[in-house]
Amino acid sequence: MKVAFFSAKPYEKEYFDRLNASFSHEISYFEPRLNEQTAGFAEGSQAACIFVNDDGSAPVLKKLAKLGIRVVALRCAGFNNVDLKTGLDLKVVRVPAYSPYAVAEHTVALILTLNRKTHRAYNRVREGNYSLNGLVGFDLHGKTVGMAGTGKIGLITAKILSGFGCRILGFDLYPNPEFAGIGGTYTSLEELYRESDIISLHTPLTRETYHMINAGTIGQMKDGVMIINTSRGKLIDTLALIHALKCHKVGYVGLDVYEEEADLFFEDLSNEMIEDEIFLRLLTFPNVLVTGHQAFLTDEALTGIAQTTLQNLTDFEAGKPLANEVKGN
Ligand code: NAI
Repeated sequence: MKVAFFSAKPYEKEYFDRLNASFSHEISYFEPRLNEQTAGFAEGSQAACIFVNDDGSAPVLKKLAKLGIRVVALRCAGFNNVDLKTGLDLKVVRVPAYSPYAVAEHTVALILTLNRKTHRAYNRVREGNYSLNGLVGFDLHGKTVGMAGTGKIGLITAKILSGFGCRILGFDLYPNPEFAGIGGTYTSLEELYRESDIISLHTPLTRETYHMINAGTIGQMKDGVMIINTSRGKLIDTLALIHALKCHKVGYVGLDVYEEEADLFFEDLSNEMIEDEIFLRLLTFPNVLVTGHQAFLTDEALTGIAQTTLQNLTDFEAGKPLANEVKGN
């Protein structure tokens, strides 16, 4: 099947090319993101393969359908960027799960780096500065960690942190029976905010979780709390977070996602002027660590994404039932 692959990055291409040896799709890789201007690249293909920041709005999907695209294959779990109610004869498939260990381990990396300041120590030592001033951390052992969301990623993160000797609290709309097995205790969200030294977000972005971290909820937290978000940027009201950092209410922030990341992440902007003043303000704090939506970026996760995406396309081509189809409701 001919596939137009948008937002192509070298690290993904390597995995798709290798695994495609046993699928034999004809993949054309395009660096630009999918939008109304770039949709034309899909001419001659039957499938469009897209990622988190590609534009799957109705006008773009209409263009794709007109060009002969019959299936849109998301190479990610989320599908909030695709309009599922267009009424077009277009299937949408996705990768519902790939290594949750990748994201959980990155979450713990953010916690450890922020706490022990290894990113700052690395730079100091390379410049011959062996001063330890400002590098004091704390023992994770005995600290309370609050997991907002105890699904696949939240549970593994909790398991790793319980290995450090942390007390684990959790809040979830649908409690996970495995959570108690790793020593976790479910509480109300209010108690989780009140009791936790570290709060880690692992809920999807929904109407209920949009800006769940805001001035009001931050006010309920311990002074000096560490907030970690590897889930979705819009879970946090960034302006409220900046205010809380400025008045030392929040002690540490680790983010792999940011609410306005679509215009920033996944691109090399090192020769550009960044116009997002809120993001720039965030970067000025010594106790804020931002990574560019890379928590998923492991060999195992990239293998899983490529394998499932290629299988989704093969199943579509063969007219088989689509196990990973996303339908509008
Ligand atoms: P999951 O579906 O296994 O777990 C999500 C949990 O959140 C479920 O237990 C669910 O009951 C709970 N939940 C839903 N609404 C809630 C609410 N209002 N309050 C409390 N809990 C709620 O999902 P998984 O695989 O653990 O992924 C979690 C999130 O991680 C994803 O939604 C995605 O946004 C993010 N993610 C980030 C990646 C990255 O590279 N930074 C990569 C993959 C996922």
